[in-house]
Parts: sequence; C-alpha cells; structure tokens
Amino acid sequence: MKVTITAIKADTGSLGGHVVPDQKMKDVISEFLDKEVGVSIIDYHVQSVGDDIGIVMSHIHGTNCSEIHKIGWDAFLESTEVAKELGLYGAGQDLLADSFSGNLKGMGPAFAEMEFEERPGETIMLFQADKTEPGAYNLPLYMMFTDPMHNSGLMLSPKMKDGFAFSIIDVEETEADSTIELNAPENIYDIATLIRNNHKYIVEKVYSRTTGEIAAVNCTTRLNILAGKYVGKDDPIMLVRCQGEFPASGEVLSPFTIAHYVSGFMRGSHIGPLKPVKVNTGLSFFDGPPVVSACAFNVKNGIFTRFIDCFEDEFWDKIRDKANQKALYIREQGFSGPAMLEDKELEYGGITDRLDKLKKDFKFTIN
Ligand code: F6R
Ligand code: MG
Ligand code: MG
Repeated sequence: MKVTITAIKADTGSLGGHVVPDQKMKDVISEFLDKEVGVSIIDYHVQSVGDDIGIVMSHIHGTNCSEIHKIGWDAFLESTEVAKELGLYGAGQDLLADSFSGNLKGMGPAFAEMEFEERPGETIMLFQADKTEPGAYNLPLYMMFTDPMHNSGLMLSPKMKDGFAFSIIDVEETEADSTIELNAPENIYDIATLIRNNHKYIVEKVYSRTTGEIAAVNCTTRLNILAGKYVGKDDPIMLVRCQGEFPASGEVLSPFTIAHYVSGFMRGSHIGPLKPVKVNTGLSFFDGPPVVSACAFNVKNGIFTRFIDCFEDEFWDKIRDKANQKALYIREQGFSGPAMLEDKELEYGGITDRLDKLKKDFKFTIN
C-alpha cells in the first residue's frame, strides 16, 4: 500500500515563556484530528518538544496535499485558541499567514513528508528539535548515511552497498527552490563542503541508491527569512526510514551521542549542544540548550503502532550529562567569540542597530 506520512510542527504558544505547551493544546489537536480519521487521514500522533507541538499524520493523498496541510493548519489554530484562552506566551507564534492558502510552504509551520510503498514492518523515526534550525540535522544525516563509524551497515549490509543520494537545498535562495543532488560515497567531500554551513545548505532529502526509495526528509523552512524579521527559530522536524535497505534505528540514533554544537539556544542567537531529550520535555537552561527528541514507530496499512521514545533509556542520561557539560562550557564565555552567532545570523536586530550607530562614532587617525 502506498502511504504518505506528513509531519508538521508549530509553536502556537507556551507556558512560562518559550518553555513548554500546555497539555490542553495537545488535547484539542487530538480531538480535532480524531474527526479526520477515516475521512481525510488514516492515523495521527501528537507530541511536543520544548515549546513546539508536532503532529504526524498518515494518509493516501501524497505529499504537498492542500487538504492535509489545511488539516494541520486548522489543528494549530485550535491550539492557538487554547493558548490565547489560557493567556500563554506567544500564542500562534509560528502561524505567520493570516489565512491558509493552499499549502503550508511559507506559512510558518515546519513540515516534512514522505510517500512510499509500505514495506513489511515499515519502521520510521521521527525527530523533533527545539531552539535550533533545520541545519542541526545536517551532521547527523551525513553520519548516519555516509559514515561507517556510525552506520556499520555501510560495510556489513549488501542492501546499502551502493550508498545514498543527498538532495541539498540552498535556503537563502528564496525566489525559487535551489537544490543539488550529490552521491555518497563518491561526493562526500562535496557534501561536507556544503553542509558544514547549517544556515544556508540543508540536507532536504536522502534516497537509497540501491532501490531509489526515499530514506529521510528534513524540513527546510527558515522563519526569519520568511517573515523578514525575527519570529522565533525554525525548530525542525524530520522523518527517517530505518532497517533493511536503510540504517538500523540504532545507527540512525548513533550520531546523536555527539551532542554536537548547533545554532539557536537563547534568542536564537547562540551556540549550544544538541541535547537528546525525552518526548514532551520542556526547556531548562538559558532557553535551551537546543533539544532533540526521537520516536520510533511502525506503520501498517497507514495505521501507526505505539511511538517508542528512543531517548528515554538511561543510556541517554550519560549523553544528557555530556550535553549539559558542553552547554555550561560554552556558556562560561557568555557573549564572547563563538558562543554567539555571526552578525548575519543574530536575531532581533538589536546588535546590528547598535553596530550601525557605533560605526558612525569611529574616528580615523592617520599615522
Ligand atoms: C528562541 C526563543 C527564546 C526567545 C526568548 C525571548 O528561539 O524562542 O529564546 O527568543 O525567550 O523571547 P521574547 O522576545 O518573545 O520575549
Ligand atoms: Mg517559541
Ligand atoms: Mg520552539
């Protein structure tokens, strides 16, 4: 059976600042989606990480389906209403457009979708991150699909012997989508050359070169580019297929042991480690650190199994300790040097305003 999985995330308001949504917001989304089951969608799942709510839906309408996107949009309108009623902070923050117009692209919510013929035991991993950007997944995707240090299947499994194809998008090109396809392993240096820049070049899709099947889909929105001003970081959602011709779920998770430094954290303007957290976790320190959750699930005839929380196990407590330590190390130097982002990536505009003002007061001295 050909099924489409659509994952959408949005910040529609949260408790105590940009920390965690209220349970009632998730409840109204579930109530809303219940009515669509058997009508437009087959199944759904709702969860949150940090201040973002993520919705995963299964259906048969393919990617970029207006009807499905509208269901996601309308569900987030419902949670926005609850956020307003409760007086939560930033109600409707990511719903940038005044009304739905055909497709979620450019409207605020991040989304990742994949359509495929279901394999027996179809296994999928859902990643949702907060206080960071879609490029935060660049390094993990590179490692899980090209690096035998994380994906031993690249050596051991004949099903992965041909490697994977990467589709990389330049998100700074806003007139039209600008993408490049590069093959691993032959082009790994070219892939690395692009995706080291997490702000500009984002791994959008990965395909198996053995079967041509879709392996991973990342979201590629950049809220600040869309809105032309700071409205919150574009916290990313991603789907990865696992097992068989794809990395095993444990290989997909392996790169997240690094807790690599990413952009985001407080006011979307700092560097912090990507900390693997349990699903529905809020934030704790300096509006961060950047967090990522991972859920594994199976799908049959479009119906989801239970979603397993992959970062729940005590193994990940050690990684969380490491991430906390890395967060404290970089926070020790506050605003200095690499602890903050380059000028172009800073949010809010306050620093650029100051710099513009100060520039006028600089005096030249001829020696
Ligand atoms: C980062 C984020 C927060 C806010 C910060 C200030 O993505 O959402 O760190 O930037 O809490 O929020 P405002 O400007 O809404 O008071
Ligand atoms: Mg927020
Ligand atoms: Mg968020």
